[in-house]
Amino acid sequence: MRTLWIVSGGSEALPGIRRAKEMGLHVVVSDGNPKAPGALLADDFVLASTYDVNATVEAAKRYHREKRPVNGVISVAADVPLTVAGVAADLGLPGIPLETAQLASDKLAMKQRFAEKNIPIPWFCAVDSSARLRELVGQSGFPLVIKPVDSRGARGVLRLSEKVDLEWAFNQAKENSPTGRVMVEEYLSGPQISTESLLLPDKAYTPGFSDRNYEFLDRFSPYIIENGGEQPSTLSVSAQEAVKRCAEAAGRAMGIEAGIAKGDMVLTSEGPKVIEIAARLSGGWFSTDQIPLATGVDLMGAAIKVALGELPSGEELTPRYQRGVAIRYFFPEPGMITAIHNVEKARQIPGVYKLDFFLGPGDMVEPVTNHTKRCGYVITSGADRSGALNRAAEVIATVRIETRRV
Ligand SMILES: Nc1ncnc2c1ncn2[C@@H]1O[C@H](COP(=O)(O)OP(=O)(O)OP(=O)(O)O)[C@@H](O)[C@H]1O
Ligand SMILES: [Mg+2]
Repeated sequence: MRTLWIVSGGSEALPGIRRAKEMGLHVVVSDGNPKAPGALLADDFVLASTYDVNATVEAAKRYHREKRPVNGVISVAADVPLTVAGVAADLGLPGIPLETAQLASDKLAMKQRFAEKNIPIPWFCAVDSSARLRELVGQSGFPLVIKPVDSRGARGVLRLSEKVDLEWAFNQAKENSPTGRVMVEEYLSGPQISTESLLLPDKAYTPGFSDRNYEFLDRFSPYIIENGGEQPSTLSVSAQEAVKRCAEAAGRAMGIEAGIAKGDMVLTSEGPKVIEIAARLSGGWFSTDQIPLATGVDLMGAAIKVALGELPSGEELTPRYQRGVAIRYFFPEPGMITAIHNVEKARQIPGVYKLDFFLGPGDMVEPVTNHTKRCGYVITSGADRSGALNRAAEVIATVRIETRRV
């Protein structure tokens, strides 16, 4: 029985742990939280913070030496490429190079690499002070995006316009960077797309392709908050192909020979451009639920195979169908949750695949400043995109999250 090490036992990793067990693997989960839901589901649990590369590598080495040999390492949804690549490098397991993981963990270094490799990207620049930001705004004009170089979940990512105080914005971005580093880039207009590709040594496949929803750009301005996405895309087949090829080329430019490349893409008037590529399975139930539901492709299973050094077939990675799948989030008024009504009624709506809340009665709904402040979500399916979308809208309208200002 082969052993797969999964870094992070968070709730979004549960489908990955289940899938690995179905594949007949012995699953070890490492997480800094002994109460992580994946700790119970795994065959073995090891206490090590997902962000602590050394602690995880040391724990994996010890396990490998003393308990049983580890055959592969992966993360599901958790954005910890350095930890995964560190374990792979130390134990001699398949994985992306450490340099690739470093690029995936640093938005500035990643963009520099893309620029060197002629991958289409927005104009970008490092910023070390609000004075420098003012200077850059003077040169480039609005709209721009300011962001921490090394954060996630859209923390500290702001769309800059005349209405935004630049000093405040600079400090927001800086506070959200563990290393205090900030960058600014041109805001790309156009449809935003989530792609998810599996790059194999001589061919790349992109079964994940979802139109992202930004209907609340003004409501939450200057924060850029995504309200879900839907499949299949409304873009033409040729536009989709162009976006896919661009995302795959970006993954290659980062040095991914075999592995996942999760793209944040924009189809601009000049063609597809890359916002960023993550070198890991996506979160937000995209790789684990939405892609398989929409296309029949078990991307997670294929990524697990790659982590074990196997080559999935092209057939496994080619969509078998295109069903409608949508995800939408709940954005109640900030305040303390007093009750959540009509959840069971909403669950009865046909096509409701997952409906869940991150918060419950007694919890505080904070103002929405990043993706971690979203309150809950629903994933629906339908015969086509609008079928799925209508059902998601019905669920959002049915559930009532009551809050009281405190
Ligand atoms: N230059 C840009 N032009 C247009 N939109 C942008 C730009 N930069 C970021 N965004 C939007 O903001 C979102 C968050 O930015 P980014 O991916 O850089 O931060 P993040 O912290 O990694 O967020 P997440 O973890 O949600 O991907 C992007 O997915 C995109 O929708
Ligand atoms: Mg991102």
